[in-house]
Amino acid sequence: MCSLILSKKEEEILKGEKGEILQLAMKILISVGKIFNATKLVPIKSAHISGISIQNIGEPGLKFLEKVSKEKVLIQTTCNPGALDEKRWRKQNINEEYATQQLKIYSFLRKMGVSPSFTCTPYLIGNKPIPNEFNSWGESSAVIVANSFFNSYTNREPGPLTIASALIGKTPYYGLLIKENRIETINVKLILKKRKKMDLTNLSAIGYAIGECVGEGVPLINGIKIYSLEEYKSFGSALATSSNVSLFKFTRSNKKTKLEKIELDEKDIKNVFEKFHSSNEWDLGLIGCPHLSLKEIIGIYKLLKNKNNKIKRRIILYTSRKILDIANKLGYKKEIEEKGIEFFADTCMVVSPIEKMNFDILAVDSCKAAHYLSSRGFKVVLKNRKEILEG
Ligand code: F3S
Repeated sequence: MCSLILSKKEEEILKGEKGEILQLAMKILISVGKIFNATKLVPIKSAHISGISIQNIGEPGLKFLEKVSKEKVLIQTTCNPGALDEKRWRKQNINEEYATQQLKIYSFLRKMGVSPSFTCTPYLIGNKPIPNEFNSWGESSAVIVANSFFNSYTNREPGPLTIASALIGKTPYYGLLIKENRIETINVKLILKKRKKMDLTNLSAIGYAIGECVGEGVPLINGIKIYSLEEYKSFGSALATSSNVSLFKFTRSNKKTKLEKIELDEKDIKNVFEKFHSSNEWDLGLIGCPHLSLKEIIGIYKLLKNKNNKIKRRIILYTSRKILDIANKLGYKKEIEEKGIEFFADTCMVVSPIEKMNFDILAVDSCKAAHYLSSRGFKVVLKNRKEILEG
């Protein structure tokens, strides 16, 4: 017996009256819904599919995508980066066989009507979450931005659920889709030195440190305030990496509440930099976790503008194809490339076989990248963007 109350139409889909793929999708929605005690399915505005890299999902994931690609998505749907840049994958030292597998995944997604966004920042290229509307998004870094910056509602969903939701146009009503679950659960007080402006790497380290402390829930943070989308994505992606947090809030008030309170200071932030400091040296710099916005690319251009020499070490920037095309039209791509820096789109340092790049130590400016690359056994150094670009 299903604990979810289904509409007549949903029952028909479950019985297979609309075909076996939609039946499978409905079964996925119901099984996830049951795990989280959802009572109904609710219509969604958009979906964002994570887990499309052959590196992570392998042959079983490819087969699943091939199967579901016989149906079309019903709502606006974007997807995460895969293992390769569609246009420059040979520069990633990937072999034909591996590339063929990933390119098949890209084509199955296109066949389903998924926008070939291949980015973790769908909100920068048209899949902009609408306040107070329901969505089904995977990718922790995008989910936390959708909830915290846009005040749109999504759980951090597993990849197959996001696909099922996109095919049915609905998702189980549970977790952060329910207003009462969006109320803050813990107070976080930051005691930090006054800085003129916090760079994105520092924000990433603060987010990571908070995540390590709180683990889950909805933190209400006092002691810093961030404003821009770029700041939210750096801070939020790191917070979502070291914890299960998918929504955070800020407060200026020091008012006493009944909530548990934790305090973090400079030492906690320093610990994060020490955790990701394998060496004083590095030979491959990776920037763009989460994918770079146009504003960040312009920022990089400005940092490099007065540099006369070419960069000595190899540096790669990751962004979405759409943002890269705009940067190209505006001339920033060429200017940056002339300094000896490369761009990759459709992929990132974590979901691609980065080991093919021939390096000893990686420099990154994001705690999410540092976390996942270290957990894959690579030597990593966390540095700010300016330090990496000094090459
Ligand atoms: Fe995006 Fe890859 Fe980082 S998917 S958030 S650039 S790990």
